[in-house]
Amino acid sequence: MDFVSRYKQLVDTALEEFFAKKETGKSGIERDAISRLREFTMRGGKRIRPLFMILGYWLNSDIDSKVIRASISLELMQSYLLIHDDIIDRSEVRRGGPTFHRMFDYEERINEGISIVCADLSDAYSHEALLDVDFAPDRLNAAMRLMSEIVEFTGVGQLMDITLPLGDDITPEDVTAIHKYKTAQYTVNGPMKMGATLAGYKNSEKIDNYGLPLGIAFQIQDDILGMFGNEKELGKSVVSDFEEGKKTHLVLFTYEMAKRADVEFVKERLGKKGISKDDFQKVKDIIEKCGALERTRELSNKYYESATSSISDLTGSSQKRDQLKTMADLMVRRVS
Ligand code: IPE
Ligand code: IPE
Ligand code: MG
Ligand code: MG
Repeated sequence: MDFVSRYKQLVDTALEEFFAKKETGKSGIERDAISRLREFTMRGGKRIRPLFMILGYWLNSDIDSKVIRASISLELMQSYLLIHDDIIDRSEVRRGGPTFHRMFDYEERINEGISIVCADLSDAYSHEALLDVDFAPDRLNAAMRLMSEIVEFTGVGQLMDITLPLGDDITPEDVTAIHKYKTAQYTVNGPMKMGATLAGYKNSEKIDNYGLPLGIAFQIQDDILGMFGNEKELGKSVVSDFEEGKKTHLVLFTYEMAKRADVEFVKERLGKKGISKDDFQKVKDIIEKCGALERTRELSNKYYESATSSISDLTGSSQKRDQLKTMADLMVRRVS
């Protein structure tokens, strides 16, 4: 079995064990909250963040059951970040099913209230999962500090994501900065550094050169799939980014590169609910024909190249280098 399938399976088993333990002896509202979180967390997900923690650990140690158990802290973090993000973005579909706040049948305010608090519980579980593993106190302490930095970066990134597009002057460079804060830190860089730290790896700062550009490339690809992907494969909507008014590289490059009438067509529809199939297809055609799609792909590729060119600084082992390259490929060539 390949590295990704093998460790994804072990991460899933460790998550199941964690939830089973949490559910034991619980009843009523608390048990219901835990089982909803379990359902949401186990429904799918590529488990990228645990995999990067494991890869970071592998830079300086054999992979063992301790790092697998620690890595689920990042998936419990992913659950709470996604629950909040889907409320913020008014998203309906996640991992091929309803978003967390659409899993309940109360009125909207109550559904959202329950979801926000369940996300807070998952935040607590994320800390618990990491603290439960028996690492040397100084390493565990350093990893906890990195975890709180990750959440801080993501929070700032989400604030930028919500507020910067409100003005008319957001630039493609701003969008890249948002990607770095809201995605790259918590998806690649932070998880890898946490793993490396738990294994006592000395050159953690070098991970930035791989983790940050790769995380940016990953989010650019997410934005491409968020319009040009296949809803079934992706497990989330392919119109909601546009309806929500996301000013992605695709959109901003189109504003620069398309004919005036086409720019007007896109501007008039961005951020409005209920776009017709035909109009959405026309928007996509405009983005493609003016060259904005190709330019966005090239940008993602530039960050991918920058990430992969730094792999040789991280380890002398060709087996580990190959795996870091394979992961980079999966991150940007993905369809889901
Ligand atoms: C979704 O992350 C949020 C982004 C940062 C784009 P993933 O694409 O890793 O989502 P799952 O965990 O596989 O569902
Ligand atoms: C999600 O960003 C980043 C998080 C912090 C969870 P997006 O809003 O761009 O991601 P999707 O498209 O909903 O997965
Ligand atoms: Mg979202
Ligand atoms: Mg969002």
